[in-house]
Amino acid sequence: MPTDSVQGLAAKDLVGIAPLSAGEIQLILDTAEGLLEIARRPIKKVPTLRGMTVVNLFMEPSTRTRFSFEVAEKRLSADTLNFSVGTSSVTKGETLIDTARNLMAMAPDFIVMRHPNSGAPHRLAKMIPAAIINAGDGINEHPTQALLDAFTMRRHFQRLEGLKVVIAGDIRHSRVARSNAFLLTKMGAEVRFVAPTSLMPVGVEEIGVQTFNRLEPALEGADVVMMLRIQRERQGNMNFPSVREYFDFFGLTPQRLALAAPHAVVMHPGPINRGVEIDSAVADGPRSVILEQVTNGVAIRMAILYLLAGGHGEPTSDS
Ligand code: CP
Repeated sequence: MPTDSVQGLAAKDLVGIAPLSAGEIQLILDTAEGLLEIARRPIKKVPTLRGMTVVNLFMEPSTRTRFSFEVAEKRLSADTLNFSVGTSSVTKGETLIDTARNLMAMAPDFIVMRHPNSGAPHRLAKMIPAAIINAGDGINEHPTQALLDAFTMRRHFQRLEGLKVVIAGDIRHSRVARSNAFLLTKMGAEVRFVAPTSLMPVGVEEIGVQTFNRLEPALEGADVVMMLRIQRERQGNMNFPSVREYFDFFGLTPQRLALAAPHAVVMHPGPINRGVEIDSAVADGPRSVILEQVTNGVAIRMAILYLLAGGHGEPTSDS
């Protein structure tokens, strides 16, 4: 699929995949490609963001996204401040907006933000001059995850167009599924969502994905199989009878993976729940690229920080 090439990102923020053009997505992936090599240097640092300050404002738990951003920021020589809700004045009743206004009084250049409410980064982006990067908002979007997923797919298959990508699990509560669907359909991939009816959102066909309520037919000929965990923290009652039954019908086992293309790769944004959505033999098996996704996430986040700071071309050791 030909995409119009662009030199930079149009917006000051990265709040989602939905507002990005195919050209902007390609620019982020191409920029990350040039940045991967920094992780292999003896001194893993370039001065690109020297003198800039990044606040990591995480109001929900995170392991991968939070550390990946912090590593990316440090590799670009930014000064980083880490905000933990449990040790902040949010516990004394301070609102998100007041928290952000107070942080802005210290003049950060970027705020990387994870929040349980869908749309929270979009609201903040309109109110404050720092660049806001969405690190996951409620059930809405997780744009940097989708970008690192696409980057991982592109590195394996040298293309996104025409790839058959299965995304299976708790689609209804998954911001990763939404961001991936927006990105992959924009780039010409075929997206197949798989979930029990109770975990499939209504109307997703409108964003160009196919839906299945059984894993087996969706897996046929798939190039990529991305499994998602059940987001128990976002549902009052479990939307299926038992974990055992869920695994029996929707768990990715070696036998089920054999239905996908012989070259298929297995992905998962993490955290994985072994024996629920994925068998350990698959998660740790030769087709799994789960830890490659984590490695690639650092380069993608470096690329986004670099481009939002106004960078063009690849950063060098002198830039
Ligand atoms: N993939 C992901 O968002 O993981 P964390 O919740 O650990 O950041």
